[in-house]
Amino acid sequence: MNLASFSAQLRDLRGRALAAVQKADDPAELDGVEGAFLGRNGELRKLLGGIGQLPTEDRPKVGALANPIREELEATISARRLRLDEIALDVRLAHEKTDVTLPGRALPRGSLHPLIETQREIARIFHEFGFVTYESPEVETDELNFELLNIPRDHPARDLWDTLYVAGTDRHYVLRTHTSPGQIRVMRSTKPPIRALLPGRCFRYEAVDASHGFEFFQVEGLMVDEGTSLATMRGLLDQFARAMFGADTATRFRPGYYPFTEPSVAFDIGCLICGGSGCAACKRSGWLTILGAGMVHPVVLRNGGLDPEKYQGFAFGMGTDRITMLRHGISDLRVFLQDDLRFLESF
Ligand code: DAH
Repeated sequence: MNLASFSAQLRDLRGRALAAVQKADDPAELDGVEGAFLGRNGELRKLLGGIGQLPTEDRPKVGALANPIREELEATISARRLRLDEIALDVRLAHEKTDVTLPGRALPRGSLHPLIETQREIARIFHEFGFVTYESPEVETDELNFELLNIPRDHPARDLWDTLYVAGTDRHYVLRTHTSPGQIRVMRSTKPPIRALLPGRCFRYEAVDASHGFEFFQVEGLMVDEGTSLATMRGLLDQFARAMFGADTATRFRPGYYPFTEPSVAFDIGCLICGGSGCAACKRSGWLTILGAGMVHPVVLRNGGLDPEKYQGFAFGMGTDRITMLRHGISDLRVFLQDDLRFLESF
């Protein structure tokens, strides 16, 4: 063998290798071609293994001839490998389908707590009568919760509203037992005509059972103007009951007693469960009491900074828990604050 025939064999190898590379149309086949020409037992190695047969002076020239060809083949193979990858990807994408109409994974959706939903429904109705919602604090002074509402320190009515006292304040601060102290706050901060709604959480020292909680909700109402009468109150509460419980709801007023109203009434609706014939829910009477109300006591008007000779008004307070129980046929109010998802998710 001489240098000329070595060079010819090299060119022949190059030609066949390039053709094989272009022909290879999957990566495994290309690996095979690479191995056959450039691998450890490949053709190029074999050819180079024969340089011992060349004249000594020609041997150093072998590298200059062979190396560019090896590099060219290596570059061609990697280019072909990239190209095959691209083709494979194109083929895969052509077969893959993205179904954009597939519904996404649903997020769990919350809902309003039934007490809040009832509170909002009550407010919605009174807003239509021109009432405005106010906020009043849950931690209240003894003075506003009792004293200024005409419930003096040793008055027996305080037993009804025993509550939780804020430690270290010498019984000066209490957790409010009703939303009524908001009446004083509104009267002191707004000029009549007043149409105020005061919803919120209340607290009492109470033995908890199916119909009593130590934490519960009320909605208070207050209307004060010149010439507001008991008849105004009757008309408004009747309308409220019909809007809330249905157009054919029966209503009645009974005499009642509250220290902060005079006269005071209890307002009943015909039992929603039995329709008035008498059942366990209405204790066989056919009636359910939904709120207490009355004409604001002159002492309370004065404590609110208003002249009872000039202004009259009425107030009412209803239990949101009780009304929610009636609306949804719930027999135990403890479920409201137990955070049981099985209950909450049913609304
Ligand atoms: N504050 C009373 C209670 O918690 C409810 C009430 C009765 C509110 C008569 C009033 C009212 O405004 O006039 O038992």
